[in-house]
Amino acid sequence: MVTKKAQYIKKQVRKAGIIGLGSYLPKKVLTNADLEKMVDTSHEWIMTRTGIAERRIADPKEVTSDLAAHAAKQALRSAKLAPEDVELIILATITPDMQFPATSCFVQTKIGAANAACFDINAACSGFIHGLVIAQQFIASGTYDNVLVIGVELLSRFVDWKDRSTCVLFGDGAGAAVVAPVKSGGIISSYLGADGNKSDLLMFPAGGSRMPASHKTVSEGMHYLKMQGNDVFKYAVRVMADAAHKAMKRAGLAPKDIDCVIPHQANIRIIEAVIQRVGVPMEKVFVNVDRYGNMSAASAIVALCEAVNEGRVKKGDTVLLVAFGSGFVWGSCIIKW
Ligand code: ACO
Repeated sequence: MVTKKAQYIKKQVRKAGIIGLGSYLPKKVLTNADLEKMVDTSHEWIMTRTGIAERRIADPKEVTSDLAAHAAKQALRSAKLAPEDVELIILATITPDMQFPATSCFVQTKIGAANAACFDINAACSGFIHGLVIAQQFIASGTYDNVLVIGVELLSRFVDWKDRSTCVLFGDGAGAAVVAPVKSGGIISSYLGADGNKSDLLMFPAGGSRMPASHKTVSEGMHYLKMQGNDVFKYAVRVMADAAHKAMKRAGLAPKDIDCVIPHQANIRIIEAVIQRVGVPMEKVFVNVDRYGNMSAASAIVALCEAVNEGRVKKGDTVLLVAFGSGFVWGSCIIKW
């Protein structure tokens, strides 16, 4: 006879895996040639420094929760679940519909997930990995069976289209994953880190309690994204490589055991430098930064979705996700597909 305590322990060690994926990219494509007409830049500069050729821009009528709802509906279809089956929505974004309520609540209504608890998380470009790790805890503890994790950004409304050092880098998009108990495989290790001392290097300075919105903040463009790109670059390379190694160590794996790496898609030079330090060949790395630019919390999940659809991630593969963003925060995760 299985005692109540034994049942609880069994539930506590449940494995969590991804059973459905979805993504949504707005139709409008903004090319480097388009940007040449807007700021003093060139296709050559953007390609050499970042590897970005184009990015997607949301329609003026679309808001963050619309992008997220499209991706979420697709993920539920692929998991063969009804919206009512969702018990928790974790939405990662730095570009919410508004300061509050949480964007996940708007998504709940838009997809009809009436039985779901909802909250947003802010872990910038690492938001999807943070969301996945939180979902894993709820599954492992037996609290929930079906958790929807969404990474979404509408960065085009938060970048200064007159600032060539940032506006060429970012794009809009959304991705979603259904996380549920799995019998084998699933998430086998993860690692999360942060360094709040570096918070000033990448932020939206105005609009919060430190610098409330005013005529002055708007006229000085302080509500737009500000970044010390060079310092961010160096830090990102070091900690992403370290996070990848830590997740591999926790899983008892070596670089040769990894079949596909899904890195945060900020800049091809960052990806190449990280991958060199991780010790995995570039052929095993999925890259789509050329088509979408940096979509912050949406980057890793959109890339994972495309890698699976294109057959780059197959059943039984070992996948390494690694990301870094404002905070600074970073995270990595290894999934047996
Ligand atoms: N077109 C032409 N010239 C430009 C442009 C542009 N779009 N942008 C900047 N420049 C100029 C600069 O003005 C500078 O000129 P100067 O030497 O005359 O002063 C020169 O190019 C070099 O500028 P740098 O900033 O030193 O260029 P760098 O090689 O560092 O590349 C970049 C800049 C692409 C932003 C890089 O630093 C980077 O990718 N950083 C990391 C970004 C990132 O990973 N963010 C992740 C987190 S994002 C998040 O959390 C939301």
